[in-house]
Amino acid sequence: MGRDGLGQYGKLGGRCVDKSSDLFDIRRCCRLRVATDKCGNATLTINLVENTRNELPLQRRAQRSSRYQKGQAYEGDCRFISDQSLSQVEPERCSYTNLVRRQVATHSYRKFHHKESQNSVLSQHVVIAPTFVKSQIVNMSKTPIFLTGATGYIGGAVLERLLAHPSVGTFDITALVRSPEKAKLLETFGVKPVVGSLTELDKLAALAEQAHVVFECADSDDLPAMEAILKGIKKRHATTGDVPIFIHTSGSGVLTDNAKGMYATDTIYSDLNVEQIESLPPTAYHRNVDLTIVQADKEGYAKTYIVLPGTIYGIASGPLFDAQISNRHSMQIPALIKASLARKQGAMVGLGKAIWPSVYIDDAADLYIVLFNSILANPDTTGHGREGFYFAENGEHTWYDISKTVSKVLAEHGIGTDEPTTFSTEELIKYFGSEDFGNYGGTNSRCRADRSRSIGWKPTKTKADMLASIKPEVEAILQRQSDV
Ligand SMILES: NC(=O)c1ccc[n+]([C@@H]2O[C@H](COP(=O)([O-])OP(=O)(O)OC[C@H]3O[C@@H](n4cnc5c(N)ncnc54)[C@H](OP(=O)(O)O)[C@@H]3O)[C@@H](O)[C@H]2O)c1
Repeated sequence: MGRDGLGQYGKLGGRCVDKSSDLFDIRRCCRLRVATDKCGNATLTINLVENTRNELPLQRRAQRSSRYQKGQAYEGDCRFISDQSLSQVEPERCSYTNLVRRQVATHSYRKFHHKESQNSVLSQHVVIAPTFVKSQIVNMSKTPIFLTGATGYIGGAVLERLLAHPSVGTFDITALVRSPEKAKLLETFGVKPVVGSLTELDKLAALAEQAHVVFECADSDDLPAMEAILKGIKKRHATTGDVPIFIHTSGSGVLTDNAKGMYATDTIYSDLNVEQIESLPPTAYHRNVDLTIVQADKEGYAKTYIVLPGTIYGIASGPLFDAQISNRHSMQIPALIKASLARKQGAMVGLGKAIWPSVYIDDAADLYIVLFNSILANPDTTGHGREGFYFAENGEHTWYDISKTVSKVLAEHGIGTDEPTTFSTEELIKYFGSEDFGNYGGTNSRCRADRSRSIGWKPTKTKADMLASIKPEVEAILQRQSDV
């Protein structure tokens, strides 16, 4: 801990140590964070990870029952009257027990305990007084954040927003990146890069263990990587009592059917309808990973949130993209454009009748931040676990809508006619790697981002913007192809 730095989380406790007062040992039920200024004055933040009311003396329970709630933080000033500065305490020794044995604390105790004097010496035990102001622990010190996918389309846009967040000064952001060159560039943005891959499971677990917040924006389907992240989170929980926040990127692909472009479904999923989401088969796309993540929340060692975007569109912009760290382009629409260019004619799967949702890249990335802010501001009311699914959509399209627009733009460039034709099976395999993968562009995936909107997300771009985004996307691809 630096002279004006911040302490580590303390060990946890829950035993009432003085039945006649509010003193109780916090070694099992709390996280303790200590901030000291240059004079050695300290501020304590006590973050309850268990309800402590049962630990309080019987006669005080009723009175206290609305206080000291699980998951809440209480903070207050705490003056250490030992002449030994708190900043001299080694971080690893800064557990509650070590701390109080070496230090003697006083604080504004008198207001609620009239018989005691303000400066009574509370040797051995810290008092959690009701004067403590409820606050988020992140306001007190740097919040360790770990992000995957920083060099990607979604992850880059999310990281941009974290770097522009009003509380960025309180974030300590670590990003896993594969490219050493991009890692160096990221450092100039104040991000701590770690060169590595999702396949390095021990490294991944260790990085997750260091973080109070994990943003997973790299891969919706990498189960071993997700298990490694959860292993790290679990270890952090076991050793510190912290319940980390895990925000994972899935996709509305979880809702897909086998329409092959031949029909539109009437089935529409709402992210507020927990039973409907739970009715999805475990074999659905992304579902094995999503279910593993929800299980972690059920077990209580993480609070999990899953963002499920539909087709994300638009060329991403911002400093990380300008610095060529992050990928500007999405997946689905560019893949369809590339296949259409290769066959010199706009195309679709089947009759293009199936329906998907879409969302603009900036709107999608904003959702992660709206969600993050909501978790910090309203941890108890922001849905998590089985209630923690957040669709990202702002309108729907048929696949024909997209293929028709691609065809029109290509025709303007002298490539094919303005009416899409159907991919043959051979073409699906040739351009998308397999028939199944090719048919993905003929599935239905219909949803409403009701929960996302309920926490204040306000996407601005609509289907018309999505269709308008196709022309610049085609032109960017043509430009790149002519550069090669
Ligand atoms: N784009 C969409 O419309 C959309 C919609 C819903 C869901 N999703 C899903 O969201 C995820 C991210 O999508 P995206 O569009 O952002 O893709 P992207 O632009 O290709 O980005 C993927 C990111 O993950 C990183 N990554 C991939 N494999 C990795 C590995 N083994 N080790 C370390 N890093 C790895 C990439 O690093 P490198 O730069 O080193 O490759 C990149 O930073 C995907 O699983 C995608 O299916 C995307």
